[in-house]
Amino acid sequence: MLIGKPAEIPSSEITPKATYLNRRNFIAGAATAGAAALTGAAFRDFAEPTVTAQANPKIEGLRKSPFSTTETETPYKDVTNYNNFYEFSTDKYEPAEAAKNFKTRPWTVTIDGDVKKKQVLDVDAIMKMAPPEERIYRHRCVEGWSIVVPWIGFSLSELIKRADPLPKAKFVEFTTLYDPKQMPGQRVNVLKWPYVEGLRMDEAMHPLALLCFGMYGGVLPNQDGAPLRVVIPWKYGFKSAKSIVRIRFTGSQPLNTWQESAPNEYGFYSNVNPNVDHPRWSQAKERRLGEFIKRPTLMFNGYDQVASLYSGMDLKKNF
Ligand code: MTE
Repeated sequence: MLIGKPAEIPSSEITPKATYLNRRNFIAGAATAGAAALTGAAFRDFAEPTVTAQANPKIEGLRKSPFSTTETETPYKDVTNYNNFYEFSTDKYEPAEAAKNFKTRPWTVTIDGDVKKKQVLDVDAIMKMAPPEERIYRHRCVEGWSIVVPWIGFSLSELIKRADPLPKAKFVEFTTLYDPKQMPGQRVNVLKWPYVEGLRMDEAMHPLALLCFGMYGGVLPNQDGAPLRVVIPWKYGFKSAKSIVRIRFTGSQPLNTWQESAPNEYGFYSNVNPNVDHPRWSQAKERRLGEFIKRPTLMFNGYDQVASLYSGMDLKKNF
């Protein structure tokens, strides 16, 4: 994600992760990677990860999901060492370290707004609401990089049904924790805090919309949004709010943080759409982390089953 006026944006901000990694790889692994480069095969990240693989405590009893892709998973060390989590840092390599002492217990989530069952729920109770599933989703960042992650959670609709929204609730708003003592990024006005995101009710109720508390077989690492986030795989990554403390039901469209910060660049819908360029770069292609060659970006990130949610809508206007 980018902040500030276009002229102020450092080029490092718009360099996709894979480019960084491949630059490092090229330096560290030039001797061995030559053949791979010639054939266009994927480079691997030779940089020392700050988080060791599979460090997250296991979640038992995982069910496989029919929504999973069979594409190759992005290595855990990449997904946990290159993060957009502005509450901790605008530098994507820093959240792993900066969030390592983040307190994710006790943790409650307030359910309020236009809903019959307003309540404050403990995150551990939320995690037990439905059997946990492993869902291997593609995830596309608006910056042009993408990952394939075995997330863990269950459909957000399970929580929404239990909250029992009123008929006038047309949207769901998610709010991230505000705690500048723990989240150093919030001491700086790069965004208006706390981070807010939203979905239309039918989007939130779609079975693909995931309430997520784990990845790669274990609990969510802090830098990936512990203890509770959403993952909306057909939308650009910024729609997937991390470290959620409030879920509010409302009749009016929430003002999401990135739209508030740069309305000409980041809309409310933010469906992955190769035909709608970001004002400052094309969205036609993406680079999968750890790979060298870019691949075409697919409409709705390849999740065609959501297309009917938008029938009749002009997705160029509603970007
Ligand atoms: N949620 C909060 N609270 N703060 C953030 O800065 N960044 C978003 C999204 N959710 C962000 C957030 C963006 S831009 C992306 S691409 C994804 O988180 C990245 O998730 P990941 O680090 O697990 O890949």
